[in-house]
Amino acid sequence: MPFFPFMKALKYLNKYFSKYKYRLLIGIFITFCSKYLALQIPQLISKSLDAAQDYKNGIITDLTIVKSDLLNNILLIIGAALLSGFFTFLMRQTIIVTSRLIEFDLKNEIYQQYQRLSLNFYKKNKTGDLMNRISEDVSKVRMYFGPAIMYTMNMLVLFIVAIIKMYNIDTTLTNYTLLPLPVLSISIYLLSRVINKRSMIVQQYLSKLTANAQETFSGISILKSYGIEKNAIVEFGNLSETSKEKNIDLFKAQALFFPLMILLIGLSNILVIYIGGLRYIAGEISIGVIAEFIMYVNMLTWPVAVVGWVTSIVQQAEASQERINEFLKHEPEIKNLIETPSTIHGAIEFKNVTFTYDDTNITALKNLSFKIKQGETLAILGNTGSGKSTILNLIARLYDVDSGEVLIDGKNIKSINLDDLRQSIGFVPQEAFLFSDTIKNNIKFGDDNASDDKIVQAAKDAYIHHNIIDFNKGYDTYVGERGVTLSGGQKQRISIARALIKEPKILIFDDCLSAVDTETEEIILNNLYKVSLNKTTIIVSHRVSSVKNADKIIVIENGTIIQQGSHNELVNKPGYYKELYNQQLLEKEL
Ligand SMILES: Nc1ncnc2c1ncn2[C@@H]1O[C@H](COP(=O)(O)OP(=O)(O)OP(=O)(O)O)[C@@H](O)[C@H]1O
Ligand SMILES: [Mg+2]
Repeated sequence: MPFFPFMKALKYLNKYFSKYKYRLLIGIFITFCSKYLALQIPQLISKSLDAAQDYKNGIITDLTIVKSDLLNNILLIIGAALLSGFFTFLMRQTIIVTSRLIEFDLKNEIYQQYQRLSLNFYKKNKTGDLMNRISEDVSKVRMYFGPAIMYTMNMLVLFIVAIIKMYNIDTTLTNYTLLPLPVLSISIYLLSRVINKRSMIVQQYLSKLTANAQETFSGISILKSYGIEKNAIVEFGNLSETSKEKNIDLFKAQALFFPLMILLIGLSNILVIYIGGLRYIAGEISIGVIAEFIMYVNMLTWPVAVVGWVTSIVQQAEASQERINEFLKHEPEIKNLIETPSTIHGAIEFKNVTFTYDDTNITALKNLSFKIKQGETLAILGNTGSGKSTILNLIARLYDVDSGEVLIDGKNIKSINLDDLRQSIGFVPQEAFLFSDTIKNNIKFGDDNASDDKIVQAAKDAYIHHNIIDFNKGYDTYVGERGVTLSGGQKQRISIARALIKEPKILIFDDCLSAVDTETEEIILNNLYKVSLNKTTIIVSHRVSSVKNADKIIVIENGTIIQQGSHNELVNKPGYYKELYNQQLLEKEL
């Protein structure tokens, strides 16, 4: 049961309508009750006025009858008002609560989709956009489920019931009374559009301000060390000046809303009094009818104004849902094609692999081939930008190759269960990333069920344990934004511990010892040698010292292998490796 079936994107939400149909139906029924009761009040007031008038005109002579009539009416009015208020409360409880439930579902749905999507998707979309879908856009859509539906129902009930009642009493007066209402509705609609447009601009400036502030805060040390705080202040000042002007524009439009409504309600009231007065004088209606009509007019104006508002809510929800759908329909490029579990031993082969990053069009690997057996250690060396990290990304299947094949245990990587593949890889990325959490949880990330002993062991293997216990809170020290700032080398080693604790079949270290000194490097490499005995290990580095013990070393330049072999083989051949070795030997001696 779509509420605004003409909206295409919103059709996607029909499944939520059916999920919550009972709640919504109850909500609609309650709305009906609430408004129906409220609409009894004008009639009662009309009757009371007429009774008083009749007594005054001598039509009824018995004062006690009039008094008991009036008392009766007053009690009924109070009863109807209380009940209607109670139902209004229930109406909000059901419909608005339902809209919150749907908002919750939709947010989860989008978040789950985000988790499915591949890296490429994240590179093509800005973080701000991703955040907006899940917060701004979802809340716009919620307005459609909540207020839009509630007010539409409200309006329909009020309208149908009131108009039937009014026409039953007096056709001419009803026609005149309703005359200004469409004008009201249309002008509110036009005004709402202006308000929405301006509030979108205000929102944009708010995001710009936040982004600006956020960036300056995270780059505060650079800002200060370059002494450009003043420039930052000026830039922020300019932005917030424009933002202020846009806000004032918005408030000017918003300020018109109520005066406009009051003006048009006033117009209707004047019409009722004038036309009603004429008809009263002509003896066609009673004085009570005029009062009754004035009440109807005042009850109807808000819903009529709301029509305009609701229309623009629905339009916004449609636009938001369209953006949400775009993301929901997006299929991840890297998909798990195999449902059955795969056992992975860890032999890796690249066969004529060519890979181009499709956003930059850089061909990072060109016809690359190499092979490592299970349990062996491969080292990759090469200048910056030569394609080392790209090789690692392909092994973890963060991207799929354009041509050629990546084989794991002799099988094409695409024919291996993706979850199992990723489970069997311990990946230490080039840039260590720690979550804003304790050190312990950051390490445990690799293995949720790890015991404390296991955590300590992993930290010892990564040669970080002695640093951790020096912190006041040890393993419970908070790191990240609001916690302790760790040095680059400490972060790298925690990130190594995280990979080790997973006890994977394949260990990948992407230049992750770059920030530690050579002695620490030596210690860690020795430890790694012990723990990775039967694991396939890939080490990317710029240092000969890190790679010399590997079973096999490959040197990459511009996405192709220019040298390969063991340390002993390479060190005696003229070429990149020998030069690097001599150069680093010299540095060490100096
Ligand atoms: N995510 C990406 N999107 C687009 N292009 C990329 C991406 N990552 C790397 N590249 C490009 O691919 C090429 C190889 O990059 P890669 O990161 O593999 O180099 P690297 O050998 O790891 O370098 P470094 O030693 O500096 O880490 C570079 O030219 C780089 O600009
Ligand atoms: Mg790299």
